[in-house]
Amino acid sequence: MNRVHIKTYGCQMNERDSEAVAALLRARGYRLVADESACDVLLLNTCSVRDLAEQKALGKAANLLRRKQHNPRFVLGILGCMAQNRGAALLDALPDIDLIVGTQKFHQVPDYLDNLRAAREAGVPLGSTIVDIAEEAGSQNTLSAHVLEERQVTAFVSIQQGCNMDCSFCIVPKTRGDERSRPMDEIVRECEELAGRGVREITLLGQIVTSYGRRDYPHAGGITPFVQLLERLDAIPGLRRLRFTSPHPRGFKDDLIQAYGRLEKLCAYVHLPLQSGSDRILRLMNRPYTRERYRQIVADLRRVRPEMYFSTDIIVGFPGETDEDFAQTRDLFEACNYDMAYIFKYSVRSGTPAAGLAEQVPEPVKEERNQILLGLLAANSDRRNATLLGTTQEVLVEGPDKKGLGFMGRTRGNRIVHLAATERLVGELVPVKITRVSTAVLYGETVPAGGEAPLATAVPASGGPKTEIEAKAEA
Ligand code: SAH
Ligand code: F3S
Repeated sequence: MNRVHIKTYGCQMNERDSEAVAALLRARGYRLVADESACDVLLLNTCSVRDLAEQKALGKAANLLRRKQHNPRFVLGILGCMAQNRGAALLDALPDIDLIVGTQKFHQVPDYLDNLRAAREAGVPLGSTIVDIAEEAGSQNTLSAHVLEERQVTAFVSIQQGCNMDCSFCIVPKTRGDERSRPMDEIVRECEELAGRGVREITLLGQIVTSYGRRDYPHAGGITPFVQLLERLDAIPGLRRLRFTSPHPRGFKDDLIQAYGRLEKLCAYVHLPLQSGSDRILRLMNRPYTRERYRQIVADLRRVRPEMYFSTDIIVGFPGETDEDFAQTRDLFEACNYDMAYIFKYSVRSGTPAAGLAEQVPEPVKEERNQILLGLLAANSDRRNATLLGTTQEVLVEGPDKKGLGFMGRTRGNRIVHLAATERLVGELVPVKITRVSTAVLYGETVPAGGEAPLATAVPASGGPKTEIEAKAEA
């Protein structure tokens, strides 16, 4: 009765929350299993950002509930954003759910499961769903435990929860609540501990990380609390790379831009959500910048780090988006030369201001705009990768690749590299000569210190694992 499987939907924040819940459950004597058919307790950690994500989890839950017919002791829980968004209303469609736990109550999951198990053992009848979607002061500090795989090289660290920006399309302020930051000393301690356990690269997580600590810490000599935190983490011995997601364009003031020139561990990769390239749509979205300001930030960052890699989030088909508005987005998308982008078709989220706007854009128009940007992205990615062919890149070797054909790692620009390596190199930053590229991944050979023959041969020149973009680009 103690085998738990957690299935996670959505963003890296959700991945991190699931990992922290897993760590708490393990400490409580539960066993985490990778096989969902061999568990006694199944927890769905859900996403509400788009309707599709909710529909997927709802479908999955309905399917799983059938398991109760032959195993009445099977426990199904819904955690996270959709639990927060829909609460007890989930019971209308899914009356046999055992547990509904919101985004500020993840740390209660072990207690709730203990209670459910005790009730099962005492023969308490079904119909006793536990629902907890309350707010809890200080909940951002409750999830610091990590489950590290053997030789785990990269880790996520949550620095903040919630968001107060109120972008008119976004459900996150509702599902994640007010912006709350964790104490800087605790974050530094957590990162030091991870570095001590062999982690070499840390990605800081939050809904709007650039606002980190704005209500808790003073600026010091024009330096925001977020940059103060980056400075402290940059000084941790053993840690080699720092990344963060997601920032907000408004957070890119001079101190953060200069940090890219000073902080050696800060990777030259910035995820900078644009959403739209039309000033009119940006205003309707309640995004407080213009296309000109955004373009300036990109130019400033490229000036400090000429090799800077950029990724972005775009929404196509926001209510009222005309061909002219989209042309503006397309134009800026091309000008910024993104290396990576997450392109979303606008999805109505009930309760958000944009949901009430007239002029919803028809689905085929959204799809067409989506495809245009995906095409540009693939071309950008090819162009960037062509410039990498034949160069030597610093790669952090993370471990065996998914297909077990070789090893994988990433460049500082967050490009995935497949290479032949040995276990010994896992966790090392190694120079890798790029010998072959595709749209989404690079292939290379380690370069020995002396620079003569390669240490090992590269992954075979054809075949090899394909990522989603690559498969899409070929289709
Ligand atoms: N700051 C957050 C944003 C969360 S939502 C972060 O951590 O990334 C992630 C992205 O989903 C947004 O940047 C936006 O591009 C997209 N998104 C949000 N609401 C959406 C909606 N209603 N329809 C389509 N895309 C949406
Ligand atoms: Fe959502 Fe805008 Fe915050 S996209 S998470 S409300 S910055």
